[in-house]
Amino acid sequence: MITSDVLIIGGGAIGLTTAYELIRRGHSVAVIDRQAVGCESSWAGAGMIPPGEIHLENSSYRKIAQLSSGLWAELAESLRAYSNIDIEYRTCGALVLPEDQKIATTQSEVELWQQQKIPVKRLNREDLNSFHPKFNSPAVEAYFLPTQAQVRNPRYVNALKVTCEQLGVQFYQHEQIREIKIQHGQVADILTDTETFNASQIVIATGAWTSQFADWFEVSIPVEPIRGQIVLVKLSEVFPSIIERGKCYLVPRADGRVLIGATEELVGFDRDCEAETVKRLLAFGAELIPEIGDLQVEKSWCGFRPVTPDHLPVIGFVPGYENLLVNSGHYRAGLSLSPASGLVMAQLICGETTELNLEDFDPERFHLEISSNEML
Ligand code: GLY
Repeated sequence: MITSDVLIIGGGAIGLTTAYELIRRGHSVAVIDRQAVGCESSWAGAGMIPPGEIHLENSSYRKIAQLSSGLWAELAESLRAYSNIDIEYRTCGALVLPEDQKIATTQSEVELWQQQKIPVKRLNREDLNSFHPKFNSPAVEAYFLPTQAQVRNPRYVNALKVTCEQLGVQFYQHEQIREIKIQHGQVADILTDTETFNASQIVIATGAWTSQFADWFEVSIPVEPIRGQIVLVKLSEVFPSIIERGKCYLVPRADGRVLIGATEELVGFDRDCEAETVKRLLAFGAELIPEIGDLQVEKSWCGFRPVTPDHLPVIGFVPGYENLLVNSGHYRAGLSLSPASGLVMAQLICGETTELNLEDFDPERFHLEISSNEML
């Protein structure tokens, strides 16, 4: 029997930051994963860390985005100290182009950033002409977010895992859950093929697979997968900042590699990516950086973003249970929100005052919805 204060199901960025925050608070922590940790969406994303959020009109979400953005520098330092891994956290800035050349869109987005006191600079045609010699766009207006940052995802999850191990977190990888014993509103034992796990508190941090894992506990946590595809190329000389247009982006790594992403596809967990999509992503990249049109694809892959019906994460106690929590549903922002999501989850478990009010992220909201629908 493996016992711990907290058992985390799922070793992606959210599960790992939760483990990191809990072990630093003196809790014993075990993490189980049905495969190797950190090899799904946390690995697959582009590693963009926006300075906040303007697209979702929810003040709690905007707060968690800003909180998380502010935690990265210290986290990167701490991970380097423990793991000796440089996660390539750097404030590279982001050039944000209007999706359809609309000046009005640029203006209203700039105002939204300004209202949140996040540094933003409006750019005109002349500024765009001098952005970088490799860059090309017919846009007449855009804006620049100087405090947008990035990390290299695979290094981040690896550094988190090594750090957690150094601090004493126990990892159990390739563990398939076979049975869950529930007694009087409490999760008792969790049985896998090889082990029995018992913990005072259990956290579901299974990303896009959360609905499936929630089935084990006979609860509904509506989280759906949205597939995103990314293409990787290598430039001879890299441009300095992230470039975004609508939901697509170019993320330049320090070594000249550029990630071109991403699609949004409701295809379940289908991993068969089409060559046509790779072509479309390359065409988007080549439109903005013409040299990309002459490059070979180094690699392409997909990941599954976990999305909830209201696009907000689910962070909190699972209704009907005294010792079951969930930390999931971060949609396009799992990696960027992982420092703050791990922090508030640990604070909740430890009975501390949480840095943010978590009411809007409460899993209960979906249960209230189900109950009222049932009454209609
Ligand atoms: N975070 C970027 C994406 O979901 O594509």
